[in-house]
Amino acid sequence: MTDLPDHVRRNRAFWDDRATEYAAPAEENWARDTPTWGIWGVPESDLKILPADVAGRDVIELGCGTAYISAWLARRGARVVGIDNSEEQIATARRLQMQYHLDFPLLHGNAEAVPYADSSFDFAISEYGACLWADPRRWVPEAARLLRPGGQLVFLTNSFLMILCMPVEDGVAASDRLLRPAFGISRVEWPGDAGVEFHLSHGDWIRLLRTSGFGLEDLIEVRDPIPLRDPRVGATVAVRGGMEGTQEPMIAAPTCCQAFSMSAARLTSGWSGSAGSCPTSCERRWPPAAQPRVARYSSGGGSEQCC
Ligand SMILES: C[S@@+](CC[C@H](N)C(=O)[O-])C[C@H]1O[C@@H](n2cnc3c(N)ncnc32)[C@H](O)[C@@H]1O
Repeated sequence: MTDLPDHVRRNRAFWDDRATEYAAPAEENWARDTPTWGIWGVPESDLKILPADVAGRDVIELGCGTAYISAWLARRGARVVGIDNSEEQIATARRLQMQYHLDFPLLHGNAEAVPYADSSFDFAISEYGACLWADPRRWVPEAARLLRPGGQLVFLTNSFLMILCMPVEDGVAASDRLLRPAFGISRVEWPGDAGVEFHLSHGDWIRLLRTSGFGLEDLIEVRDPIPLRDPRVGATVAVRGGMEGTQEPMIAAPTCCQAFSMSAARLTSGWSGSAGSCPTSCERRWPPAAQPRVARYSSGGGSEQCC
């Protein structure tokens, strides 16, 4: 415990304290068969965040908490491992595993240093877990290490714009003003909160992901699915710490969260085969060392594109 970085120690105590509050939502989420995302519960069928087929694939959830995402993936046939920093959150997950007769390993530990060998997994996911509460400069390279070439990392965290517009008072909606500078943000500590969060600008995420060996496939900005005809009427409000009915609209920060999707194709090992070729139409070929760094991913057919 004393060897843990300060933010991991603090977040462990913070999440152990909050675990009881998360038990009821966990029960609802475990009971659900179809995944939904973000505070507005946008269905997976709209966002297509998960790979089309995870059956037989090795999956790790980084900061699994109550592990309902792990449960959704296990039900789809994945071989799942969940790791979480809070023993109390894991206790809820274990109780629900027993209730639903769904067994997969749950590890109590820090997602910045996972006790698995290199290239152990095909898919890594984090939903407001390590991606929000662990140091990105530690957990992103760790996720890259854990993934096999061609594996995929998906994470869902708060929208950076929302973080810039979020008042410090808990329970107060994001405003239509930028309340803090957009540059130089990384570690965020809200007054009165014991926890430590990490939020990066889009540019900082992209640089970190690329230097860790990932190619960025998609960045999905999740928004309220209810059309905001008049943004002051009936808009759902995003507040720090969760969703808060339909009081005031969230005007300036119309996305609550953002989902990043990354391929773990290492720049040195390339996509597949000894030389890359564009699988779509441009017919370009290049030696592995010269392959394009940014791979786009078409979630429908799963094809990579270079042009
Ligand atoms: C908001 S919960 C999200 C987890 C899950 N999606 C859920 O809702 O139950 C955040 C979780 O991240 C975990 N966490 C925070 N820092 C972590 C770290 N360094 N390594 C692993 N898990 C961590 C916390 O213990 C907590 O369970």
